[in-house]
Amino acid sequence: MNIKILNQIATQMVTESKGILAMDESHGTCKKRFDALNIEATEENRRLYRDMLVTAESLSSYISGAILFDETIKQKTSQNLSFPDYLKKIGILPGIKVDTGAKPFSCHSNEKITEGLDNLPQRMEGYKSLGAKFAKWRAVITIGDDIPSTACMIANSHALARYASICQEVDIVPIVEPEVLMDGPHNIQECFDVTNKMQSILFEELDKLDISLSGIILKPNMITSGSDCKIKSSSEEIAELTVRCLGNNVPIEVPGIAFLSGGQSDTEASINLNNINKLNDNPWKVTFSYGRALQLEAMKKWNGNNHNNLDAQKIISKRAHMNSLASSGQYNLSMEND
Ligand code: G3H
Repeated sequence: MNIKILNQIATQMVTESKGILAMDESHGTCKKRFDALNIEATEENRRLYRDMLVTAESLSSYISGAILFDETIKQKTSQNLSFPDYLKKIGILPGIKVDTGAKPFSCHSNEKITEGLDNLPQRMEGYKSLGAKFAKWRAVITIGDDIPSTACMIANSHALARYASICQEVDIVPIVEPEVLMDGPHNIQECFDVTNKMQSILFEELDKLDISLSGIILKPNMITSGSDCKIKSSSEEIAELTVRCLGNNVPIEVPGIAFLSGGQSDTEASINLNNINKLNDNPWKVTFSYGRALQLEAMKKWNGNNHNNLDAQKIISKRAHMNSLASSGQYNLSMEND
């Protein structure tokens, strides 16, 4: 493990005015999104779609890294370069999702544990030789009747720490993602309480396994009310509680925090990130690692047809630009019309 290299990569991932494009949807998730648009979920369509994303104009002005899926890291772009080589050529760090998904958690109904530790050291070496500089592992915590259990939070945090250790051994920066889902009717205070506890347990587990915090990126949810909650919170309240939660838990050695969008609309995700940045006076950089909030509108425009590439690319470039501005607190909604 070379902590200097890890810290250099992590710092580059959250460099000023840039964020991370999450384009690592599993086959199942990608199929769900394609099905909704009547796009056939074939290997070639996934390649064409992702090729359209990474070849969008000016992407590297706003995006520091792209998280790839196992299939994509082995595919080639239209320029006949592998995805990692193409990304490297345009100045974007290639990353890889390495967990194998959230599965039912034994003896705990309605809760999930993320799997993928088996053979991870070998897989990690393989991804490294393909060009990966960082990795991602997502833990899923659900708020519901009597859940989440402390056991679920501990088990997922321990798995995140084991994964982080395996990454750091080979100088790959782990994105550590403890996602408290937005799904459900819970209010914003419940989201705060659960996220605060999860982040506290997570940093205890990372500490127990001697993870070098200057060589990780945290990918949390923002503190919001649940998607079925009747009381909608203002962006100012979301920002205030999110910064408070991070301030309670995230040690100053962590170079950066890159949020997931979690089901927020694309403009909500930009406004909230902007307000968080206006409020944050902690040392870590705060940026985005969005999937849906960067991609969904572009995917709709693409619609499985490469004739739509340029129009779809304008959308992904614009979302990347808007979030780049939000990552330094310089975004406002009126810019959407420019
Ligand atoms: O793991 C989650 C993804 O990388 C981020 O996706 O922004 O759509 O929540 P999302």
